[in-house]
Amino acid sequence: MNLAVERTQTLTQELFEAITRIWNETGISNPARADDFASVQYNLQHGGIMLLARREGILVGTAWLSHDFRRLYIHHMAVSPEFQNQGIGRALLSEALSIAAEHGWQAKLEVHSTNSAARHLYRSCGFTDLEGYITMIRRG
Ligand SMILES: CC(C)(COP(=O)(O)OP(=O)(O)OC[C@H]1O[C@@H](n2cnc3c(N)ncnc32)[C@H](O)[C@@H]1OP(=O)(O)O)[C@@H](O)C(=O)NCCC(=O)NCCS
Repeated sequence: MNLAVERTQTLTQELFEAITRIWNETGISNPARADDFASVQYNLQHGGIMLLARREGILVGTAWLSHDFRRLYIHHMAVSPEFQNQGIGRALLSEALSIAAEHGWQAKLEVHSTNSAARHLYRSCGFTDLEGYITMIRRG
């Protein structure tokens, strides 16, 4: 089946709803993350890139990328559950790494220690654990 991965920096409400549907069904978004339309759109207008994986035209996966001119940060990688384990996540990651390579940037991401599928995928694409670090956040 035909799979296309495209890059976009333009966000419509309709596209945001389709992306949010995938975030919700994969459990990677919650209100505390403040993933609202305005902040995602602002990010995309200022260097962020949204990757969209479409199979036969239907949105089946997405990854949200941002950068600081040194590193590409890969986050919100998600593939609709019914389409997982078919290489779509790998295609999204490969596109993200192509963008990093085009600019000469490193690539960085966070993944939960129990997320075996994602960790397998990232390791197989050359990511290694950043030994000794934990992730901290202050919300609000
Ligand atoms: C992580 C995710 C994006 C991967 O997308 P995907 O389309 O399923 O990925 P792919 O099919 O390209 O690759 C999955 C790989 O993981 C492997 N895999 C699947 N389940 C696994 C498991 N439980 N343990 C180890 N490896 C596993 C597959 O065999 C495959 O590896 P292979 O290509 O070497 O055979 C998808 O599982 C997802 O949306 N998960 C929920 C959201 C999430 O956790 N996002 C990542 C946040 S960091």
